[in-house]
Amino acid sequence: MDHISRLSIDTRNLFRDEIGNGGISDQDITALSPRLDKLRIQIKNWVHNKETSFLNLPTTTNIVDIKKKGQWIASNFKETIVFGIGGSSLGGEMLVRTLGDDQPLNSVRFYDNVDPSTLVELDSVDWRETMLLVISKSGNTAETLSQFLTVLPVMEHQLGGERVPEHVLVVTENKDGALYLLADELKIEVIEHPAIGGRYSVLSVVGLLPAYVGGVDIDGVMEGARSMVEQCTQNDILKNPAFHSGAAQYLHSEKGRTISVVMPYADNLRFVVNWFRQLWAESLGKVDASGRNRGLTPTEAHGVTDQHSQLQLLLEGPDDKLVTFLSDPSFRFQGRRVPMRFQNIPAIKPLAGHTIGELFVSELKATRTTLSRRGRPNRTLALTERDAYALGELIILLEMETVVVAELMGINPFDQPAVEESKVLTRQYLGDIRSVDGLI
Ligand code: PA5
Repeated sequence: MDHISRLSIDTRNLFRDEIGNGGISDQDITALSPRLDKLRIQIKNWVHNKETSFLNLPTTTNIVDIKKKGQWIASNFKETIVFGIGGSSLGGEMLVRTLGDDQPLNSVRFYDNVDPSTLVELDSVDWRETMLLVISKSGNTAETLSQFLTVLPVMEHQLGGERVPEHVLVVTENKDGALYLLADELKIEVIEHPAIGGRYSVLSVVGLLPAYVGGVDIDGVMEGARSMVEQCTQNDILKNPAFHSGAAQYLHSEKGRTISVVMPYADNLRFVVNWFRQLWAESLGKVDASGRNRGLTPTEAHGVTDQHSQLQLLLEGPDDKLVTFLSDPSFRFQGRRVPMRFQNIPAIKPLAGHTIGELFVSELKATRTTLSRRGRPNRTLALTERDAYALGELIILLEMETVVVAELMGINPFDQPAVEESKVLTRQYLGDIRSVDGLI
């Protein structure tokens, strides 16, 4: 079956033909194919709904219900505030900031951190015109609970306790979790969080409800996501885009390229990087069965700004990085034109007559070429601005690549066993808050 794709995936600069001996070959990739056989079976189970997974969200998520709820929110409130952290906010925020309307019916603000100097903004919220979405799969996350519990008295004061439930929706899974218990006691509606880890949950109510309220074409996102799911079910490692790119990144990591630099040449794609960083870091940073510490470190370089900050390191620093460019080819046709007026000045001559967009894409091409000439691996994922379909494809591609790399590394991409210790310590330190004084 032919798949419509609006996401362009250019991996040529990962290969020997383009970057020389430090590159890889199709034969190297093909040699990994048998190691993905178990995953091939797993993928079939996921797409045929035998097991709940991020891969069947594009076909199982109840879009009709999400839209109904979103329309109700948009017609009753001027603003929506989302409390949630990690996978409970990054996906929704990516969709809203990347694809949302500039002037949505209902503006959406996300609060994940508990920096008190930022949260002071909440003091000026008019709760009579505001909907609060509190999202936490476990329902026990300290940051999200604290945010909610500290605004609750303000809401009660402004609205009266009995009207608070009309202004709050909770998304959670764990019926024993504190959030569920609070919702029960305060008579707040609970929407069920799917049985999928936060960082893989963007294509469920977790990401799609805030996105819809923020004006995102969620049908388009899901259509693109379904197309990429189909592409990722192909058995042939050279034809399956996630197998191919995942295997290529794994091979480079075995050559010591363990830093994954994502370099968006589009300001609004920076939120894709925020989401991706969590996905890649929390899924791959693990100890494998032999006790080896595994993982690839995601970092961001922002095109073009970081050409004047990090590019020197990417070009001549340690050869331990693989760069993924996120680009928007349509920028070539955007932006104002530099006038011809000062073209006699040598530094202005090459700019004169060109648009800002032309400069932008030329700089991307130049960065890519200079990296390749030095044998530094890089690839380009291109999508047009505000193309919901292409972003849906990109989301599934990046999720599936993560799973492929994890499979090749022999680790579980869906857990995060080590972070619990810091959560336990946080509670302990709160119990003896003065012990923190000397440390901070
Ligand atoms: O991806 C994950 O599982 C985590 O990053 C969680 O999303 C994050 O810790 C928040 O957890 P919760 O949704 O339970 O509040």
